[in-house]
Amino acid sequence: MYAVALAPDAELRPLDPWQAEEFLAHIDRAREGIDPFIPFAARNTDLESARATLQGYADRQAQDTGRIYGIWLDGTLVGGVMFVRFDAAAGNCEIGVWSEPAGQGRGLVTAAVRRLLAYAFEERGMYRAEWWSSTRNERSRAVAQRLGMTLDGTLRQYYPHNGVRHDKEIWSMLASEWPDAPRS
Ligand SMILES: CC(C)(COP(=O)(O)OP(=O)(O)OC[C@H]1O[C@@H](n2cnc3c(N)ncnc32)[C@H](O)[C@@H]1OP(=O)(O)O)[C@@H](O)C(=O)NCCC(=O)NCCS
Repeated sequence: MYAVALAPDAELRPLDPWQAEEFLAHIDRAREGIDPFIPFAARNTDLESARATLQGYADRQAQDTGRIYGIWLDGTLVGGVMFVRFDAAAGNCEIGVWSEPAGQGRGLVTAAVRRLLAYAFEERGMYRAEWWSSTRNERSRAVAQRLGMTLDGTLRQYYPHNGVRHDKEIWSMLASEWPDAPRS
């Protein structure tokens, strides 16, 4: 996958280590909205840590165990999606997302996740794609619902974050369910 149009003014593209500076500037704009739910922004606080994140994904892409892509709106990096886990042998993967305010409310994240699901199911023959989100994260749950995923269950008080143990919902889509996914 190289560049994929998500909307007339937005595209999904690989996000590589050489883009660490642009990635960090974007994360600084996104930090406030991400911190309550996941440690993704907190792990990227300077150029070194931002580059390490992207290098980690580049290494995992080379091993076929993970991938990361950015969402550009009018040429500005405003969010992204990733395969947090990609286990081709087992046919299971997990998708994660993040965005800054300028990228939200446009359906771009949902469109980007749909592209990753197409890649997983159609190009790679995966069986199951997961979406893990805190029960406190209503906008994240809404993405899973919009995609037509099914709530498998909730891991109660599973995830310690910012001094609170969050209940984690696990949503999934199976390959057999993919062609019927709603196209909103
Ligand atoms: C989760 C997160 C990425 C969702 O962002 P988002 O912009 O709401 O997601 P989408 O791209 O699916 O956009 C949906 C919104 O666009 C609107 N929209 C506009 N055009 C649309 C279209 N063509 N298709 C779908 N939605 C569209 C929807 O109505 C919805 O807006 P609303 O919530 O005000 O009703 C964002 O809240 C975020 O970054 N949160 C912090 C990080 C995080 O929680 N990550 C997930 C951890 S599990």
